[in-house]
Amino acid sequence: MRLLVVGASGHLGGEVCRLAVAGDGFDEVVGAYHHEAGGVPGVRWERLDIRDGAAVDSLMRTVRPTVVVSAANRLGDWVAIADGAAHVARAAATVEARLVHVSTDVVHGGRPQPYGDAEPPTPITPYGAAKAAAETAVRALDPYAVLVRCSLILGDETSVQVRLCADLLAGRVAGALFTDEIRCPVADVDLAGAILELATSEHHGPINVAGPEALSRADLGRLIMRRYGMSGRLPLSTVVESGLPPRPREVRLDTSLARSLLRTRLRPASEVLARGGAVAVPS
Ligand SMILES: NC(=O)c1ccc[n+]([C@@H]2O[C@H](COP(=O)([O-])OP(=O)(O)OC[C@H]3O[C@@H](n4cnc5c(N)ncnc54)[C@H](OP(=O)(O)O)[C@@H]3O)[C@@H](O)[C@H]2O)c1
Repeated sequence: MRLLVVGASGHLGGEVCRLAVAGDGFDEVVGAYHHEAGGVPGVRWERLDIRDGAAVDSLMRTVRPTVVVSAANRLGDWVAIADGAAHVARAAATVEARLVHVSTDVVHGGRPQPYGDAEPPTPITPYGAAKAAAETAVRALDPYAVLVRCSLILGDETSVQVRLCADLLAGRVAGALFTDEIRCPVADVDLAGAILELATSEHHGPINVAGPEALSRADLGRLIMRRYGMSGRLPLSTVVESGLPPRPREVRLDTSLARSLLRTRLRPASEVLARGGAVAVPS
């Protein structure tokens, strides 16, 4: 079996590569990057711009993967997010590869009740709309693809959420963590394990893959501070006080299907962030 990870130089793509190389399910792991190859040993790196449909077709025909994980992302770039996902789905279908496309919880607009797996998107941001368009294209081009809707991805001290807390505390960036924006954060390694399991499952269509614990960004920040031994006062605000354009406030994902299908345990954020002693965050 050969795995192609698109967006392999990114946070989630890198984690998927690491797990795939460490396991015995794949004979070869090919990682596609846009600007700079990732650092995971054992991966064959290939440069690719998914906005270029012909380039995606060409790489797919050369690599001939059994499984494709589509995990590229570029905030603010509709063509990369939506057209790029469509190019990958079309090319994967052409070589009859199994496709796992990574989507997001913010295809939803937010409400107090948890969202089921198959609920149609209700985006309220440009990013959510682009990811929703990507989902629609992927489903039309490859009805057997898996669409993983995940929430905030937690990682080590170099990851986005941890860096954000360190930067806010040090005054290196402006802004605040919202007390009223609720998400179900998921550990990168749990999500990557779930993606690789889903790749060899019978499931197709959307599936929620997120942690079981719904937290505000402010509470997540407090857990990160405790885990990494950070001190100081985190700047906090509500979404309205921030003056930012409307964004999904409460997005809880019902993950009962994922939990019944998968051996990978989707751990709560407080467990993920309770490990070990304090680790220094590089400034
Ligand atoms: N991070 C989160 O909290 C979160 C939450 C919900 C859903 N997700 C979803 O999870 C997936 C992975 O997110 P992530 O945070 O791991 O992303 P990331 O770290 O920002 O990585 C993005 C990846 O996409 C690649 N890329 C960007 N534009 C490209 C293009 N035009 N052609 C080819 N590759 C391109 C980047 O390549 P280079 O680095 O080489 O330029 C990089 O490998 C995305 O689908 C995202 O929507 C993420």
